[in-house]
This record gives sequence, C-alpha cells and structure tokens, in this order.
Amino acid sequence: MYDADNLATAGTPTMSLAEAAAAAGGDSFVTIAYLVAAVLFIMSLGGLSKQETAGRGNMYGIVGMILALGVAIFSAEVNRYGILAIAMIPALIGGSWLAVRVKMTEMPQLVALLHSFVGIAAVLVGFASFLDPHGGMTPAELTVHQIEVYIGICIGAITFTGSVIACLKLHGALSGKPLMLPARHLLNLVGLVITVLLGIWFLSSEATSTGVVLLVIATILTGVLGAHLVAAIGGADMPVVVSMLNSYSGWAAAAAGFMLGNDLLIITGALVGSSGAILSYIMCRGMNRSFVSVILGGFGTAEGTVSVATEGAQGDVIKISADDTADEMRSARSVVIVPGYGMAVAQAQHALAEVTRKLRDADITVRFAIHPVAGRLPGHMNVLLAEAGIPYDIVLEMDEINDDLPNTDLVLVIGANDIVNPDAEDNPNSPIAGMPVLQVWKSRMVVVMKRSMATGYAGVENPLFFKENTRMLFGDARDNTDAMLGGLRGS
Ligand code: TAP
Repeated sequence: MYDADNLATAGTPTMSLAEAAAAAGGDSFVTIAYLVAAVLFIMSLGGLSKQETAGRGNMYGIVGMILALGVAIFSAEVNRYGILAIAMIPALIGGSWLAVRVKMTEMPQLVALLHSFVGIAAVLVGFASFLDPHGGMTPAELTVHQIEVYIGICIGAITFTGSVIACLKLHGALSGKPLMLPARHLLNLVGLVITVLLGIWFLSSEATSTGVVLLVIATILTGVLGAHLVAAIGGADMPVVVSMLNSYSGWAAAAAGFMLGNDLLIITGALVGSSGAILSYIMCRGMNRSFVSVILGGFGTAEGTVSVATEGAQGDVIKISADDTADEMRSARSVVIVPGYGMAVAQAQHALAEVTRKLRDADITVRFAIHPVAGRLPGHMNVLLAEAGIPYDIVLEMDEINDDLPNTDLVLVIGANDIVNPDAEDNPNSPIAGMPVLQVWKSRMVVVMKRSMATGYAGVENPLFFKENTRMLFGDARDNTDAMLGGLRGS
C-alpha cells in the first residue's frame, strides 16, 4: 500500500495526488507484468531443455516477449510512437523475412548477427544514457551509473564486432583460419589494461565532452579487441564462440537494463548471459577443449570440408552400394544411425525417417546417436529428426549409447565425420585429440555415407574410413537414403 508521501514522490514533483496515484498504480502494473514476463522466460528456458517440451518452451518465450514489449511500449515513459514505429516496423518486417527464409544450416550466422544487434544496442543505450541521465542522482548514484555506462559500452562493443566477425566467418565471407598476429596475447592484454585505465579516467572526468571522447575511444578500442579475439579463433571452435557471444550479448543486455533502470532487461540479460555461459561450458566439454584455450584462439585451422585426403593414403577403402546397405540393415538385429552435418545439407532426414519406420516394422531395433556438437549448432540434429517425426525415445545422447555400440550389428553414419573419428582417442597429436567421439568402429559393421573422401569441419583425416569393418557408401546422403528405401521396399 502507498501512503500519501509515497504517492507524492511516485510521479514528478508537480503532479497532483490523483496523478501520482495513477502513476504509482501504472508502475505496479508494469512491475507485475515484467515479473510475469520474467517467469515466462524462466519457464521457456526450462521447456527448451527437453525435446518433448521444447515447443511449449518456445511458446512461453513468445508470450513473455509480447507481454514485455507491449508493457514497455504502452508504459508512461514512452510517448513518441512515431519514432518507435519508424524503428520497429522495418525491424519486424526484416526479422520475419529472415526467420522465414533462413535455412537450418545458416542458423549459426543468423544467431551471430542477432547477437551483434544486442551489442550495438548496448553501446547506443550507453551513449544515450550518459548524455541524458535520469535526473536527481546523488554523487554516489552518478558514479555507479557511470560505471554501468562504461562497462555496458565496452561489453556491447566487444559483442558487436566479435559477432560480426563470427557471422562473416560462419557465412564463408571471411576465412575460417585463425588470425595469428605476433604477440597477440600481449596485444589483447595491453588493450585490456588501456580500457581499464580509460575507465578510471572516465570516472574522474567532470566535463561531458571529455567523457564522450573517452567513451568513443573505449568503444573503438574494445571493438578492435572483440574483432581480434574472434578473428584469432579457428573454424572448429566457432560454435563455442557463437555460444560465448550469446552469453556476452546477455550481459550487454543486462548492462543496458541497469542503465535504463529496467528490471526485466536485467533479469532477461542475466538469464541469457548465464545460460550462454553454461552452454559454452557444455560445448567445450563436448569438444574436450578448455574454455580459456577456446577464448585465446589459435585452434582449428580448417575452413570446412576443403582439404581432400588422397584415397589410399592410409590403405584402401571398401565401397558398398545402397542396395547392399539395405540388405545389411535387413539382416541386422540392431541398427544405430549417427547423423551429422551432411544429413542437414542433403536434407535426408525425411527419407531416413521412412527407412527407420521400415526397419522398425520388421522388428529391427533402430536408435539414433547424437553427438553434442554434431552439425553446426547445438541441437541441430535433434531439430531435424523431430521435424521428420522420428520418435524422441529412440534418439539417444552420445553418453547413453556409446557403451552399447559393441553390441550393435550395423552403424549407419550419415554425413558425419569428426564426431566419429577414432583419432580423437588414438592419436594424441591429432588436433581433435581428447574430443569425446561416438565409438562406431566398435560395432560389427559401419557404413559411412558421404560424397567423397573430404575431411569434416575440423579439417582432419578420418582413419575410420580405412577400418576393416567400415564400408563407404559414396554419394549424396539424400539420394542414397532414397535408394536404400527403394531396396527395403522391394524386399
Ligand atoms: P563434419 O565433421 O563437418 O562432417 C560432415 C560430413 O558430411 C563431411 O565430411 C561431408 O563429406 C559430408 N557431407 C556434406 N554434404 C553431404 C551430402 N550432401 N551428402 C552426404 N554427405 C555430405 O560434421 P559432423 O560429423 O556433424 O561434426 C560436426 C563438426 O562441426 C565438428 O567438428 C564440430 O566441432 C563442428 N561444429 C559443430 C557445431 C555444433 S554446435 N554442432 C557448430 C560448428 C561447427 P563429403 O564432403 O565427402 O560429402
């Protein structure tokens, strides 16, 4: 309950008691609505953690965001609807157009691009908030506000340029090779130290013009730092970088929330920041890389499937036809399918779902094995398999199925390469040494579906192809899956 004094201070000093009461009522409505939106965002994250509840999780997120936007737009602080429309309508059209036309394989660069928007927004909010702070701050509050502005601008600038570089690398517009400048760690350290010193100067500067100049210098410096940090990271580590930038963008949003005094933005930013950090950690574990070594860069010199291993370099491969693969599957008691990036490229998941149905109808146990970094983004394979209607209960994580592979008659590796590379376990000199992999070579027979002997994303050769129990089914994954389906139907 508000007493008269509180009501009087809820609005501007010149408000009447009735106006102040209305403003206070509006404030509590906004607070409650923001709280509901925050709970919806938490429920959304909870839902997204499982395939079965992911759709519901998405709905919670959408409703929460509509509520948050609606309340923000119609709150007492917003009154220039013309300017808002100019900003929002093109953004709505552009965002919808992008969401409809983006392919699953292009999602990582789109996500990186969206992170860059959060970064630049934090920078702009920082400048606006510095030039036009909320009035009536005590000197201590002003100092805290300036710290928020400085940190928000620096995190925002790093997120912006880092995300732009990540987007260009993932899109292939920039080389995926790490940029290895001499003394790059020293350069980063010097950049960091200068940023801190500039910050101290900024806090002690009195004149607005000096403050603006220092902020511009800090923006440029941290922007260069962000670009350099991500440019030094190679292709194979890009997924972790995108997730890490996701985390940065969350902290940038939280910083913007502090500057604007917006609780929902703080909560949402913290949720994104921490969930992005946890995801980065899980991905690092999936690749057996320490987070620090990823951030410091230099690993993963490949640009994708470019370097071609010469056939016979490690022995000869044994080829198999789609019809013979169908025969092998028919005579197996248990089949495990390992999908990878190539399945996404070929869009073979629907034909694969048909193959799965045929085999299950014939009482053959079929399961899917999902590596944590299969494909090009977290959950990539799960999304495609769910889209094709593959039942969730036969889709297993790597840890759940690895021990069972020695008891499996046939493993079908469809468009996967790095995630089934035995060198990760056997060759300490391999760039992917120590990365946990699906031990498909332990099964009775492995059929690898790919178009050529080209390497996978990490650019390393794969001894699996030369093993005695491996058969190579060359060609487009979709064409060969269709041919296998024909073989199974003909039986
Ligand atoms: P990759 O190691 O990249 O192997 C994919 C294979 O698919 C290639 O060797 C390619 O061989 C084959 N392929 C491509 N198009 C095909 C088509 N139309 N039909 C049949 N085969 C096709 O993929 P993976 O095993 O899924 O491993 C993922 C890799 O990507 C890891 O190194 C991981 O670190 C990295 N990465 C992961 C993520 C996340 S978060 N999932 C994000 C970015 C990068 P051919 O060219 O011979 O056909």
